[in-house]
Amino acid sequence: MSSHLGKVLRLTSFGESHGKSVGGVLDGCPANVFLTEAHIQAQLNRRRPGQSSLTTDRQEADTVTIVSGVEEDRTLGTPIAFYVANHDQVPGDYERFRTIPRPSHADFTYQAKYGTRSVSGGGRASARETIARVAGGAIAERILVEHSGVEIVAWVSAVGNIQAPDIDMLQISRDEVDQNLIRCPHLATAEKMIQHIKSLKEKRDSIGGIVNCVCRQVPAGLGEPVFGKMEAALAQAMLSIPATKGFEIGSGFSGTRMQGSEHNDPFIATEKGLRTKTNFSGGIQGGITNGEQIYFRVAFKPPATIGIAQQTVDFEGVETILEASGRHDPCVVPRAVPIVEGMAALVIADMLLLQKTRKQGLS
Ligand SMILES: Cc1cc2nc3c(=O)[nH]c(=O)nc-3n(C[C@H](O)[C@H](O)[C@H](O)COP(=O)(O)O)c2cc1C
Repeated sequence: MSSHLGKVLRLTSFGESHGKSVGGVLDGCPANVFLTEAHIQAQLNRRRPGQSSLTTDRQEADTVTIVSGVEEDRTLGTPIAFYVANHDQVPGDYERFRTIPRPSHADFTYQAKYGTRSVSGGGRASARETIARVAGGAIAERILVEHSGVEIVAWVSAVGNIQAPDIDMLQISRDEVDQNLIRCPHLATAEKMIQHIKSLKEKRDSIGGIVNCVCRQVPAGLGEPVFGKMEAALAQAMLSIPATKGFEIGSGFSGTRMQGSEHNDPFIATEKGLRTKTNFSGGIQGGITNGEQIYFRVAFKPPATIGIAQQTVDFEGVETILEASGRHDPCVVPRAVPIVEGMAALVIADMLLLQKTRKQGLS
């Protein structure tokens, strides 16, 4: 199993959904960064289950405890270990999946890989694993804020076929995103998304969606060509989030419909040096940041565990009908917003610290 991310800023995550706790160790964080549990808690609260009628009913406060690496609200430069206790477990809900692998979940594949699995809850395939990503990301964000005021904001841009109009990526804030339960800053669209998810939840079905993300004030020069290009690192990080099915950066797939004369980002001279007039590149060229906003989209599938009857077979190959009971998200995107932000922060902070080791440095 690979539970590590990063080269200089290294996150190791641990914990199963129905074990005693989930958490992580973040090593490589510079000393003297201002960090409190409240910084981490703010993002965990946006991720936690049971936060609204649109999420799973599992009730977890997800209170974080930092156990090492921080003293008097300042990082020590030593490994920062943190954990969140699991409380609201109902292993009985998972008993049916002992013999029947859930279609499109990870029961069959974990069993195929390890010959065993955590049957009491989703184990490492449960979204509880993402707590370490969000907590580690919140710490990474402290490094980025202190270094160059990097701002990372993610929001929901689509649920099923309901798509929000483009929003102003230069201005969008987390406060605006959090104005409604679905975390879509376009209020009229948000209302439609909310109603759609509620009606599917009543029918015990689920739906997918898209999370957009913008990273502002990222300095030019970050990224490690050729295999560690910034967009490649972001794609790897985002596609490691459970339930992701797609990643698009800058103009993405729509760029294939444009001509070079439309798509090129012409340079302009400004007081702060060269900038670009347009930003179809999404802030990255040659795998290296160019100082413009990095923006990308992450596609999430509908959660696999649904109450609607599904024709399938059990582990022995015997035909059966599965109607999953238990508490599950009808749509993951409102909770995925802080996870996407956290993964972006971890990747960019790692690249920033890596750049400090390069000859040209950042100054
Ligand atoms: C925030 C979040 C919440 C999730 N909640 C559920 C859930 O309640 N039920 C479910 O079946 N899958 C849920 N998932 C997705 C599963 O964790 C994921 O589908 C599973 O691990 C299989 O991995 P894959 O979809 O990446 O192939 C959630 C994912 C995220 C990011």
